[in-house]
Amino acid sequence: DEDGLEDTEQALKFLKKASNNVDRMSYLINDLDEISKLESGALPINPTKFKINELIKEVFESEEIKSKKYQIQLIFKEKYNEPVYVSADRERIRQVLSNLIDNAFKYGKTNGTISVSLFGLHEQVLVEVTDDGAGIDEKNLPRLFERFYRTDSSRSRQIAGSGLGLSIVKHIVEAHQQTINVRSTVGIGSTFGFTLEKAKQAGFPGLPYSI
Ligand SMILES: Nc1ncnc2c1ncn2[C@@H]1O[C@H](COP(=O)(O)OP(=O)(O)O)[C@@H](O)[C@H]1O
Ligand SMILES: [Mg+2]
Repeated sequence: DEDGLEDTEQALKFLKKASNNVDRMSYLINDLDEISKLESGALPINPTKFKINELIKEVFESEEIKSKKYQIQLIFKEKYNEPVYVSADRERIRQVLSNLIDNAFKYGKTNGTISVSLFGLHEQVLVEVTDDGAGIDEKNLPRLFERFYRTDSSRSRQIAGSGLGLSIVKHIVEAHQQTINVRSTVGIGSTFGFTLEKAKQAGFPGLPYSI
């Protein structure tokens, strides 16, 4: 009967809510586990030589569904047609990129774009993730990488998150002896940039660094 149908609908709604909460909880537990392992040194950095261009493309592929969901376009501004070799922990850097791109989706704007750019410095490569979202008030910038820190606007807009992502990112980058920075303009967007060590080119002692 009709009442039975309504009950089923109610039950499904309830289960959906419960399941969403379980999802959030497991993200939080995952992040907490991750950060405690990182901080206790239980997750050492295992650097290998790899092509950062390739990793960026891989991350883009895994973010395709979100790109459709948020209706935000992902663009790789590839300046070099040659591969750019870096020396870093590939899986950890994937985590850094996914976290920054995830934030750019969550705090970006519908029909906007997220672009990733590479810049060759002397002995480093600079990777930048730029969005054209709401931006971050200057007063919030100094605390952004702190554990559990979330700006008022992200809390009031009820965007899901633990506030742990950027602290994990900073931890990973600094464990590589590299740096991460943010610049942002309210109403224009934000850019998160981190450096990586260029891989030394084998067999060319006179040319120690690839591009
Ligand atoms: N691209 C961005 N644009 C605007 N605000 C951002 C962006 N990335 C991060 N933030 C702000 O920094 C806070 C911390 O980010 P993060 O540590 O990843 O936590 P979470 O994503 O779980 O909220 C976010 O809550 C948000 O307020
Ligand atoms: Mg985040």
